[in-house]
Amino acid sequence: MDDLLKKAATLHELAQYCNRYLGPNVVKGEKLVFGEGPSSAKIMIIGEAPGVQEAKTGQPFVGSSGQLLTKLLHQIGLKREQIYISNILKTHPPGNRKPHRSEIKRELPFLLRQIELLQPQLLVLLGATALQALLDPNAKITKLRGQWLEIKNLPTFVTYHPAAALRDETKKAALAQDFASLQGYLESR
Ligand code: URA
Repeated sequence: MDDLLKKAATLHELAQYCNRYLGPNVVKGEKLVFGEGPSSAKIMIIGEAPGVQEAKTGQPFVGSSGQLLTKLLHQIGLKREQIYISNILKTHPPGNRKPHRSEIKRELPFLLRQIELLQPQLLVLLGATALQALLDPNAKITKLRGQWLEIKNLPTFVTYHPAAALRDETKKAALAQDFASLQGYLESR
């Protein structure tokens, strides 16, 4: 699959490959969520997988997690439209469950090629699924949140997923603190 995806020379072409290869896995009435944002985006945000709202619209982070994400971006002076937003999975896991390893194995190559084609200046990973899929299956979000790592040769900031923050006030405060620290980094460059 990796070799095949190398043939996609643009994000548009990659989206076509994605439809061809993952489209058959999409439940009737749902859409693939490839990711969205300008191809010139310097920041790429990576979440877990589309939820119900995202699978309905075909856009990432448009449900309650997305609303919190948009608010956090706004609070640090960024507009959602400046950022490329994507997920580890392009398909909605049934019943909103966590992605299975087999799904991550099948769909991750699309995200990896998406990063190569977008060439962002930095990545922001939201939550344990993104962290574990891209760094190490045993990595702990509680340990690494708020920290910078290097993934795919890019500076990569790790924080909680907005859905976790919506369930837990302590994580919500930590997420806001992490976004403030991200703002500090962006302003210092
Ligand atoms: N949660 C995610 O991880 N991604 C989305 O697009 C929506 C909710």
